Amino acid sequence: MNVVIIGAQWGDEGKGKIVDYLAHEAGIVVRFSGGANAGHTIVLAGERYALHLVPSGILYPDKMVVLGSGMVIDPEALFSELGDLVERGIDWEGRVLISDRAHIVLPRYKEVDKAEDARRRKPIGTTGRGIGVAYSMKASRDGIRLADLGDPDRLVNLEPEDRAFLDKWRGKLAPMIVDASAYLARHRNSWTLFEGAQGALLDIDTGTYPFVSSGMSCAAGAAAQGGIGPRHIDRILGVFKAYTTRVGNGPFPTEFDDDSPGSLSNYIRATGNEYGVTTGRPRRCGYLDLVALRYACRVNSLDRLVLTHIDVYDALPEFDACVAYKINKRLIEDFPASIKDLEEAEPVLKKFPGWQTPIDACASWEELPLRTREYIEFIEDFTETPVSIISVGSDRLKTIVKESPWIRS
Ligand code: GDP
Ligand code: IMO
Ligand code: MG
Repeated sequence: MNVVIIGAQWGDEGKGKIVDYLAHEAGIVVRFSGGANAGHTIVLAGERYALHLVPSGILYPDKMVVLGSGMVIDPEALFSELGDLVERGIDWEGRVLISDRAHIVLPRYKEVDKAEDARRRKPIGTTGRGIGVAYSMKASRDGIRLADLGDPDRLVNLEPEDRAFLDKWRGKLAPMIVDASAYLARHRNSWTLFEGAQGALLDIDTGTYPFVSSGMSCAAGAAAQGGIGPRHIDRILGVFKAYTTRVGNGPFPTEFDDDSPGSLSNYIRATGNEYGVTTGRPRRCGYLDLVALRYACRVNSLDRLVLTHIDVYDALPEFDACVAYKINKRLIEDFPASIKDLEEAEPVLKKFPGWQTPIDACASWEELPLRTREYIEFIEDFTETPVSIISVGSDRLKTIVKESPWIRS
């Protein structure tokens, strides 16, 4: 059985926490997009783990993890991350596989990435990890795949320093390289999780282009770039926060306009610890954008939603959510493609009463306050997508499962 988990906003929705939680019942976790631009956090018994390239699932001693063909992999960053895991007592040897079709990020891509972004009239605010450069090289058919490491013909035109870099890592990578789709076909009886990176609004096609990342972070990426055919996806889950955050530049219709000390924006950033896991940048914050969320549900065929960070609202007497946009005095209910429209969009807000009580100890739907449940039910009705899991804190155990995605026959 194959379950896909993607971000349904602009990234950092809590995908790592949810994949780690659901991996308990899985045999294999496949990351299918992005690279070291991602930062997926898992909190377990008071310990915080930040994963960038390694799929969430590695913390269990018996799970296999696969870096899929849609990923762009910096070997130096990968082995540094794996080294950190060893220092923390996680034995990964023999459990980390890499698709032979995945692409390599060469060190100079990172400098090019930063220089290109600085040259843009409106910079994207990339993470500087060479991601866009690696995907450009892939699209222009000049990239280097893991499979190419043993093929001198493919490397002949490389600069000497690039070749030296590959020589340094070739031997360590070799035992990890597999044909991922053949591996998954051989293990088709395993329960497999496909972990997205970034989010639907950062996807190269469905996102707020050009203020996006360069990979396929949409659900379809799990098939094209994870190693299975589209017919073999059984369930698609989209993770979203009770509010919205964004790192880097680009339109954000529900962004709070006041970020001064004592503002709601500051309160949410402090309470939700809204700082980038990869770059440490403060995340931009705003109310939940239901227009954007409904769009993410539609373009990704989300079967179910997973709500996170609802505990961050615990102390608020009331809060809003955006149910439409006003653009040039017109009411707009579909998420627009035009950046100009998104920048001009004024959110039409609906007010919700707060519950003003801590919910992080709630272990079931019934234990949640009525007002929390009413907010969730409104989201379900608006998006026409049921919420099946609710996260009430960063720890693995602070998770309420209304309905497990693992269909038991
Ligand atoms: P990802 O990129 O989608 O995996 O998300 P990140 O790890 O970048 O950011 C999510 C942050 O929120 C991390 O610090 C998590 O530990 C934390 N987190 C996850 N779920 C919850 C939740 O339900 N409540 C709170 N308060 N924090 C959460
Ligand atoms: P996870 O998987 C949030 C953003 C960057 C920038 C844009 C392009 O942790 O949710 P890139 O370096 O990819 O070319 O940057 O995309 N971005 C993310 N924002 N979460 C992420 O990943 C992100 N990965 C990239 O901030 O605006
Ligand atoms: Mg993140």
